[in-house]
Amino acid sequence: MCGIVGYIGTKEAYPILISGLRRLEYRGYDSAGVAILKDGEITTHKCKGKVSSLEAMIAAQGGNPEGQVGIGHTRWATHGPPNDVNAHPHASDDGQMVMIHNGIIENYGSLRQELSKRGHVFKSDTDTEVLIHLIDDIRKNADVTIFEAVRIALNEVIGAYAIVVMDRNTPDQLIAAKKGSPLVVGIGKDKDYFIASDATPIVEHTKNVVYLDDEEIAIIDARDGFKLMNIKNQEKTPYVQELELKLEALEKGGFEHFMLKEIYEQPRSILDSMRGRLRADKGRVELGGIRDYIQRFVHAKRIIILGCGTSWHAGLVGEYLFEDLARIPVEVEYASEFRYRNPVIFEDDVVIAISQSGETADTLAAIELAKSKGATIIGICNVIGSSIPRATHAGSYTHAGPEIGVASTKAFTAQVTVLTLMALYVAREKGSITESRFHRLLIELDAIPGKVEKVLEKNDQIKFIADHYKSVPNALYLGRGYNFPVALEGALKLKEISYIHAEGYPAAEMKHGPIALIDEEMPVFFVAPRGGAYEKIVSNIQEVKARKGKIIAIVTEGEEQVRSMADHVIEIPDTDECLMPLLTVIPLQLLSYHVAVMRGCNVDQPRNLAKSVTVE
Ligand code: AGP
Ligand code: GLU
Repeated sequence: MCGIVGYIGTKEAYPILISGLRRLEYRGYDSAGVAILKDGEITTHKCKGKVSSLEAMIAAQGGNPEGQVGIGHTRWATHGPPNDVNAHPHASDDGQMVMIHNGIIENYGSLRQELSKRGHVFKSDTDTEVLIHLIDDIRKNADVTIFEAVRIALNEVIGAYAIVVMDRNTPDQLIAAKKGSPLVVGIGKDKDYFIASDATPIVEHTKNVVYLDDEEIAIIDARDGFKLMNIKNQEKTPYVQELELKLEALEKGGFEHFMLKEIYEQPRSILDSMRGRLRADKGRVELGGIRDYIQRFVHAKRIIILGCGTSWHAGLVGEYLFEDLARIPVEVEYASEFRYRNPVIFEDDVVIAISQSGETADTLAAIELAKSKGATIIGICNVIGSSIPRATHAGSYTHAGPEIGVASTKAFTAQVTVLTLMALYVAREKGSITESRFHRLLIELDAIPGKVEKVLEKNDQIKFIADHYKSVPNALYLGRGYNFPVALEGALKLKEISYIHAEGYPAAEMKHGPIALIDEEMPVFFVAPRGGAYEKIVSNIQEVKARKGKIIAIVTEGEEQVRSMADHVIEIPDTDECLMPLLTVIPLQLLSYHVAVMRGCNVDQPRNLAKSVTVE
């Protein structure tokens, strides 16, 4: 999710660490910290806020801490609000070892319970702190090396991690390991070694890097050099690459824009949003963040979903999900309208407020209005500790990681993922869903990240299609059922980054007006996967065809009927109808991205737009 740096070698560590953390600032974060080891003592500085706040705090306490080995971290909180105590590094009880971590330890709850019974005292609310106590517990009870303790501990961990561990009794070593979160080791001259989440903090020191693979552990020894093992205790041969990418490209992970990087992150951000919550193997959905309010949902006569822009579109998908699965009436409201129209709000209403940034002024104001009338407010946000989560009674975070591009992509699919889990959780509690459908949906949801990968493989074909429509003045997006909100979202993506006027509509609405727009100049994007009112949307396609409209259709792979009518067809894997938005939105994200690039638009910062609209 966020930023890791480490250094061991012949130079002073602190300046290298702090400049490395600055290099990682583009990734967004909420707190920062460093720990330096010298003469058997570890000095740790950490605080909520920016790297500059950390630097100022250190300067106020006497300036550059000395030492030639250290670790640094910028946090994107997932467990525990952003504050000084929850900032990394985290330490073992006796302060002998410190650790930094990117990712999510899914089974931190059970591990924490076990370790507390064994006398471990936890200072923070984070999942991370549990891991360093586990390593310490193993180290002391099994009397093994720091490497062995880390290796054994990682075999007990479920989740994603990129970690660096520093031990004052092993001052010549840093131990780094990764699974599901990125980690790179830079090999400098004269036995200098650098560790980071990506190559941006490393490239100014060395171009020779090793990207760790999942479940690999790097033992970096100032005397003996660099050794690569895995958690099964097998030695691996490090593949040393020479970095070619320029710094700016590195920040984008080699992608041309943050938006494209974030589109491609969706298999992982969807998986991260399900981690520890979807137990397909056990046939369970666990949403700890709303567990205390589940009965409010079960007995709710109405759910009101609030949001703006893309978050409002996710809310529309939520309406179909909650009504279809949990049989609860849902109203989806533009927060900006809701807050001013003197709405009728009941005390037994459950309000779900959706926001990527957690700072959208209209959504915040709408929440306060609903709360003042006694409704229960549940949040779905991507930024822990932001204003909206603090204004809600409870909620479930999306774990999409920082979204830098103004056009929301991975946040949308993460929001839909959390809404799906919520609707399934409530439906199971209410008994409004059959066991067989519930289990089938869990298995299908579990398979979604892999299916998103498959859709992303269509990128070249989608780029080819984009080239045909990069100069159109207008576009129509049509869908039905669960895919109607996807049509709206696809139109918004094209509008906001390519400045082409685009409208989304329920396909059935064509005959009530928009069909007058159809001619050979009008591209019509149909979201038409199998399921639901498929036959109906096929006739809508025929209506457009009859009027010479250009047809670009997203269909389920193997579909033949639409192929014969469409100018372009994008095939996606099949899945359950209610999960389709997680797949059908991907081609529309890629299409808008390529059209905008071809038009020379500023994809990551489109004109007139801000990433978070904190004003009315
Ligand atoms: C979507 O691509 C836009 N960036 C915008 O519509 C955004 O979804 C809206 O401003 C809501 O932002 P939020 O999710 O941070 O509340
Ligand atoms: N899950 C850890 C925490 O909440 C790490 C978050 C991150 O990747 O920065 O502290």
